[in-house]
Amino acid sequence: MAHFHGRYIDRVVVLTGAGISAESGVPTFRDAGGLWERHDPMDIATPEAFSRDPELVYRFYNERRSQLTRVQPNAAHKALARLQREFPGEVYLVTQNVDDLHERGGSHQVCHMHGELLAMSCTACERSMRAERDYDGRSACPACGARGKLRPDVVWFGEMPYHMDQIETRLADCDLFVAIGTSGLVYPAAGFVRHALAAGATTVELNSQLSDVTELFHHQHQGLATTTVASLVRELLGD
Ligand code: OAD
Repeated sequence: MAHFHGRYIDRVVVLTGAGISAESGVPTFRDAGGLWERHDPMDIATPEAFSRDPELVYRFYNERRSQLTRVQPNAAHKALARLQREFPGEVYLVTQNVDDLHERGGSHQVCHMHGELLAMSCTACERSMRAERDYDGRSACPACGARGKLRPDVVWFGEMPYHMDQIETRLADCDLFVAIGTSGLVYPAAGFVRHALAAGATTVELNSQLSDVTELFHHQHQGLATTTVASLVRELLGD
């Protein structure tokens, strides 16, 4: 248990978005120069887009997967991993990010609600598998051998995010909810702060600017994640 702004905290839920990986060199979606400024998500991140032009979608995800080999976790990923290791209570980490920087930063539990760049799933046998190379419409599923049935194991617009039951259970039972580097524009993640408030949790937002749901947070710290996350973690660990 830790002391934070006059109350005891035992269970923490942390939600991260693209902003936590920005300083590692992974572009966000909606900032200037972000992914959705250069690509229309409807051409690249929907099941319909994949049926219409699978090669375009494969290329987009191949490029993002290969970019992961050129980036490293930053001080914010590492600070959260330290919080998970050293906090004298539970720290449940849920990310909207499809990169693997939390894991490489040392986090032992990461819930990827929007899937992972390093996974493909097979629409024939429904298995999910680790993906570390490029794929195209001729790639065969290593599990069942079917060709042309693999897709990036990421959640596209119009699809249900993963692990929602588990996330909602954690939110219903948390004392502190922290949202880091997320614009608050994409649901259901943008609604998590409301679940946490309903559970009586203290809510903290760390972002380089105000988000779309800033008014729902008891505390808001504007700044770069590498600074604000490290400082919150020090406070929670009583450094
Ligand atoms: P966005 O690109 O919408 O928002 C990124 C947020 O991070 C913004 O609020 C920025 O102000 C903030 N930010 C940028 N750099 C930062 C830094 N160095 N430190 C702290 N904050 C910083 O990304 P998300 O909110 O993650 O979904 O987007 C949510 C979802 O929308 C994504 O998971 C993706 C996208 O469409 C799917 O693809 C399903």
